Amino acid sequence: MTDWIVEPAGPLSGDVAVPGDKSIGHRAVLFAALTDGPCEVTGLSGGEDNLRTVAALQALGVRVAEGVVQGVGLDGLRAAAAPLDCGNSGTSMRLLTGLLAAQPFRSELVGDEYLHRRPMRRVAEPLGRMGARVAGRPGQGKKAGEIYPPLVVEPAGTLRGIDYESPVASAQVKSAILLAGLYARGRTSVREPGPSRDHTERMLRFLGAPIATGERTTAVDPDGWDRRLRARPLRVPGDPSSAAFLLAAALVTGGTVRVRGACVNPTRTGFLDAIAAMGADVALENPREEAGEPIADVVVRGGRPLRGVDLAGDLVVRAIDEVPILAVVAARAEGTTTIRDAAELRVKESDRVATTVALLRAFGVAADEREDGLAIAGGTALRPGDVDSHGDHRIAMAAAVAAAVAGGRVVDVANVATSFPTFARLLRELGARVSESSPAR
Ligand code: S3P
Repeated sequence: MTDWIVEPAGPLSGDVAVPGDKSIGHRAVLFAALTDGPCEVTGLSGGEDNLRTVAALQALGVRVAEGVVQGVGLDGLRAAAAPLDCGNSGTSMRLLTGLLAAQPFRSELVGDEYLHRRPMRRVAEPLGRMGARVAGRPGQGKKAGEIYPPLVVEPAGTLRGIDYESPVASAQVKSAILLAGLYARGRTSVREPGPSRDHTERMLRFLGAPIATGERTTAVDPDGWDRRLRARPLRVPGDPSSAAFLLAAALVTGGTVRVRGACVNPTRTGFLDAIAAMGADVALENPREEAGEPIADVVVRGGRPLRGVDLAGDLVVRAIDEVPILAVVAARAEGTTTIRDAAELRVKESDRVATTVALLRAFGVAADEREDGLAIAGGTALRPGDVDSHGDHRIAMAAAVAAAVAGGRVVDVANVATSFPTFARLLRELGARVSESSPAR
């Protein structure tokens, strides 16, 4: 097991680019595989999660090499010879389940011990309403009624479109249903309680799919469509969720960081809006658009006093992956920060309400767990901390940023390679003192 030893450093500053966005990367390779020809995909992060999606598609008969995905069309996938291993990646498993639900062959999806603890009924249930046959491992006791991986997807003939009112704002759920909907008879719509990320609808539309979007509703209607996704170059922009760790590092140490070419899709900018509300100096420069996604260079200048804020509702949906690092920023703000409407954090790579509170306490910060979020008492000096990642990449990276202020050890950091394999190197480039150790256990 690898740990990081982090020593306090001065202001962290620099001008960097981060690896490609994880969410967009999954979609780029998955949708490219369904196009009608060779489709160039550039800017993939090299993170393990995206590589799981690539490997799954290869196992389903898609050739992927040197940045080109050989699209096989909507009906060109073939049965995999073995279970598809999604590793730690919830997005791989949920999106693939939607796609495979519509195929005329059986598939099995497995993952690592953490993924096997994550709920899958949220996709199996709506897909079942479309006529799909998705089964999983039933939950026991308090979790009765829930299902967990491994998942088995049986062929079920032509699916039928549904109008689905989703109980959760989840881009993975929405995407799984829309993918199945591409193959269904009739229109499929998904209505959501909040603004989940919209990369699926942007990219599918960019490739020529019959997608319509409304305020909280997304629909696909394949009737009258020629069932062809056009191969077009897909460029994956920088991951704003990865950028958040480096921008936060500037904020908490009083430095200045510029991240070039980050995705600034409004469904992903909740972190920037939250730190701006805390009083941070945030600027977007060189705005542009690529493959249907807005992009900019993001600059955060530390040094201004920060104040605690109340975060809830849509803003939390738009910052859902950034809550651990937002909590570290909140620890450096004057006053209390509360984060509500964040019950989804309980079912991420770890229970992020519990693991974020444990992280803060390790650095001497007073933090309270709530059913659907947390409260952080900011403004006291951090003390050196020792934090277990609990197998969660975003907990490991948030802890490293806090340790750049106060010093500390982050236990079990290999999982950072799932989304941001170059994190430690980039943090060092900004001036952090991070070394690796592999203690015998
Ligand atoms: C993702 C959607 C979000 C997010 C995850 C990636 C995606 O999950 O937390 O990191 O790529 O669709 P939910 O769909 O569960 O909200």
